[in-house]
Amino acid sequence: MQFITTEHYDQLSNKAAMIIAGQVSFKKNSVIGLATGSSPIGVYKSLVHLYKNDYIDFSEVSTLNLDEYLGIDPMDEQSYASFMRKNLFQNFNICTSNTHIPQSNPADVDAECIRYEQLIKHLGRIDLQLLGIGQNGHIGFNEPAAHFERETHVVELDQRTLQSNARYFESIDLMPKQAITVGIGTIMKARKIVLLASGHEKSEILDEAFFGPVTPAVPASILQFHPDVTVVADQAAMQVISRKGRL
Ligand code: GLP
Repeated sequence: MQFITTEHYDQLSNKAAMIIAGQVSFKKNSVIGLATGSSPIGVYKSLVHLYKNDYIDFSEVSTLNLDEYLGIDPMDEQSYASFMRKNLFQNFNICTSNTHIPQSNPADVDAECIRYEQLIKHLGRIDLQLLGIGQNGHIGFNEPAAHFERETHVVELDQRTLQSNARYFESIDLMPKQAITVGIGTIMKARKIVLLASGHEKSEILDEAFFGPVTPAVPASILQFHPDVTVVADQAAMQVISRKGRL
């Protein structure tokens, strides 16, 4: 487990973008696991900048998104499909057919979980998985639970997640209460994991996840068992870890 601490969010974003760029220049047809939420927005901006300046080529890359809300139109501004189009794909040289996100409105939700899981297996091992972390320790939408769920599944969103993500919706009542997420097993099988954390509100959970007990009550804590995790965090997110002298 490696920690890279940056002063601000912009540096965090550039750092993580450079790690992804390095991966893709090393292996042109990399499979990259992508995340949503506010944390990776700066990374995507930096990647677009690198592409526009001819530093990177994603034409052979495949991407797999971690999760999607259920019961939302894919064209809705708040769907993760829209998020990815707006923040990365529309400004980038990636083939749309190589980008994958769980469907938000499938006719059969269980069949969609099976389809996505088979797709993951077909693409092979994820070379680099980008992650954020929820304030309750969720990764993807793997919420605190009694056990670690291995494969793609439907989740009921945790109250804390609803409260935290309600800022993107007109009201919490209009927010989807369920999502599809890849499982912890898929995340753990990635060759390399880069987890982003920015801001004071991530400080406690970052410490709990990486220096507390490994428990499904804090899903990100499983990452302590992964052989290649890089946490890229700004000073605000590192506050508790630094105060406790963990590193
Ligand atoms: C969402 C996503 C997660 C993300 C988390 C943190 O719920 N499903 O993948 O890591 O929120 O979001 P943020 O980066 O906005 O704090």
